[in-house]
Amino acid sequence: MNDLSKLEQEIFEKFSLIKTKENLESLKVETLGKKGSVSKLFQELATIDKEKKKEFASRLNILKAKILDELSKYTLKFEQYELQKKLESQTIDITLPVPKITQGKIHPVSQVIDELTCIFAELGFSVAEGPDVENEYNNFTALNTPPNHPARDMHDTFYLDEAKQLLLRTHTSPVQIRTMLNEKPPYKIIAPGRTYRCDSDQTHTPMFHQLEGLYVDKNVTMADLRGSLDYFLKKFFEVDKIKMRFRPSHFPFTEPSAEVDIGYEIKDGKITIGEGDKWLEILGCGMVHPNVLINAKVDPKKYQGYAFGVGIDRLAMLKYGINDLRSFFESDVRWLEHFGFNSNDVPTNYRGLAR
Ligand code: PHE
Repeated sequence: MNDLSKLEQEIFEKFSLIKTKENLESLKVETLGKKGSVSKLFQELATIDKEKKKEFASRLNILKAKILDELSKYTLKFEQYELQKKLESQTIDITLPVPKITQGKIHPVSQVIDELTCIFAELGFSVAEGPDVENEYNNFTALNTPPNHPARDMHDTFYLDEAKQLLLRTHTSPVQIRTMLNEKPPYKIIAPGRTYRCDSDQTHTPMFHQLEGLYVDKNVTMADLRGSLDYFLKKFFEVDKIKMRFRPSHFPFTEPSAEVDIGYEIKDGKITIGEGDKWLEILGCGMVHPNVLINAKVDPKKYQGYAFGVGIDRLAMLKYGINDLRSFFESDVRWLEHFGFNSNDVPTNYRGLAR
């Protein structure tokens, strides 16, 4: 009996001397391993006479439980110690300067898309998307442009099949249809993305970028459109005032329709946006045609709104002084090095859009 107390004392003395995981492991083997001191006593139980057996067995079980408990405490201690060591070796000093990123630049088109997303988010617009490969229904028919409508020719469409069912979208306007068919009104979205037309010269490339805007609710008016455009242009060009004019125009999917010009001037070879007596066309817009709402399962007696489409590449050229549209898509690393943005310069409204 007393031997057991002595053994316990010895074992716990050894526990107090443990320094490493290896020490712990050998103590485990020494006590509870196959030939361990405690295991041996369990084996000896068979030879003890009945009366003593019960009490001895119970004391032995208690000792085993104590050892197991102590073993797990030490295991946990070692685990915590190792974790701590790992964490200490992996700390970063946030007061150190950010390493200069010398490789990789953000393309001006991506930068402008981020800037626009940021500006329109302030006005409550969320971002919607649609595929580059569209069906002709979403790209034309649902947008009130039936087969044989002359507007279809204006778009120089890339068709992908003989039956002219699939095409590369010629504008981002089909995202209006997708959004309205998939969600319930009101709608307040922008949709930036790639668009395609069979056209190529200094100001046209077969692939270019547009940003669509759609705001449909119960009382959205043309005045709201003008206000939002004025806000967006001032923010985008980072000017306090912007001269803007609406010219009557025609799009099958809006009525009335307008094209928007902004004022500019060129002084000493530098372009100033927002003032001056020259005009530059930058976007198409109008009130969503009731037929479009009907096609998109929206009741035109309850809902009305505006839509606009703006060329993203054109905006990037104006803001960042790039004069050949084709250079955007030539993947010339020197060009990108010059006109690209640092990946840490994320546009935000509060910090300035692009610095
Ligand atoms: N989709 C038209 C274009 O590509 C632009 C536009 C969009 C006009 C929305 C009116 C409303 O030219």
